[in-house]
Amino acid sequence: MPLAIARQTFICVRDVTWLYTCENSTRSDPRRMANVLITGCRGGIGLDVACRLLKRGHKVYATVHREISVLDARNALQSCGENFIVDTLDITKSSDISKVDNWDIDVLINNAAVGDSGPLAEIDLERIKAVCETNVFSALRLTQRVVPKLIAKGQGRVIFMGSMAGLTPTPFYAPYGISKFALESVASSLRTELKPFGIKVIIINPGVYKTGFNERLMSRKYEWMGAQSLYKDHMAYVRRKEWVLKLGLPSTWSIARQVVKAVESPWPKRRYVAPGWEWVFLPLLRWFG
Ligand SMILES: NC(=O)c1ccc[n+]([C@@H]2O[C@H](COP(=O)([O-])OP(=O)(O)OC[C@H]3O[C@@H](n4cnc5c(N)ncnc54)[C@H](OP(=O)(O)O)[C@@H]3O)[C@@H](O)[C@H]2O)c1
Repeated sequence: MPLAIARQTFICVRDVTWLYTCENSTRSDPRRMANVLITGCRGGIGLDVACRLLKRGHKVYATVHREISVLDARNALQSCGENFIVDTLDITKSSDISKVDNWDIDVLINNAAVGDSGPLAEIDLERIKAVCETNVFSALRLTQRVVPKLIAKGQGRVIFMGSMAGLTPTPFYAPYGISKFALESVASSLRTELKPFGIKVIIINPGVYKTGFNERLMSRKYEWMGAQSLYKDHMAYVRRKEWVLKLGLPSTWSIARQVVKAVESPWPKRRYVAPGWEWVFLPLLRWFG
């Protein structure tokens, strides 16, 4: 009997709690649905998350960087659900950012990012600034545009796509890692600052996934490290240090699942990470070089 009462109480609490959906639920219940804006949905983690949220009944604004990706993203999402809008949103352009004024948003997922790599001892600082301009300042600018809408609703969520590289420094990967370390600070401060308004701020830390992002990022340094590079006689050393980034998982499901939890959980954690084994072992392995 006490068990039955406890179960019923749990169900009642669950049902009145904003955004909750059972892991295996396929029922559509408007009380539980959120309008989710995701940036950087051309493929990879963003597209996977968009599809999963659609399948679970949420409305998704799946935005892409460039016009050329709109059709592909739309075609990919058609098998996931109907309640979506695909549009371009270059987060570095204020004209694009102003589009969000016309959208009804409950959850913002700052997923879009760029990367660069190479030795800090010689990289042109403009390259690091360019990465931070997209990954940090543009994400924050978009967040500033969305937050007043969430405050007006008295609830909402802002989710940042961080990285393991924002927690564990990785040699020759720092031009990107710096931006993800900065996002840790942004998310942490914003979490406390937005608490009085009932807005939750969450950071996701993916490990290494084979979406093509890391491969592009790693190869960037070979485009600019010329014959005069300080490392011209140490290229084997530079390449050896890339081993971590070659461990990537082929499927993004484990991290996309965590993002769904961040969107739906009535009491979301501050941080979601995946895959768990990387979280435990990579910092240890890096310790040994
Ligand atoms: N893959 C991993 O191992 C890994 C690990 C840790 C963290 N992450 C993070 O996870 C997120 C998604 O990465 P992913 O692996 O799924 O790679 P991805 O598919 O390449 O995702 C990055 C997305 O950002 C978009 N983007 C770049 N600049 C933009 C801009 N100015 N405005 C709007 N969108 C822009 C890209 O569009 P275009 O390609 O069309 O430019 C792309 O769709 C990123 O934040 C990344 O830092 C990934």
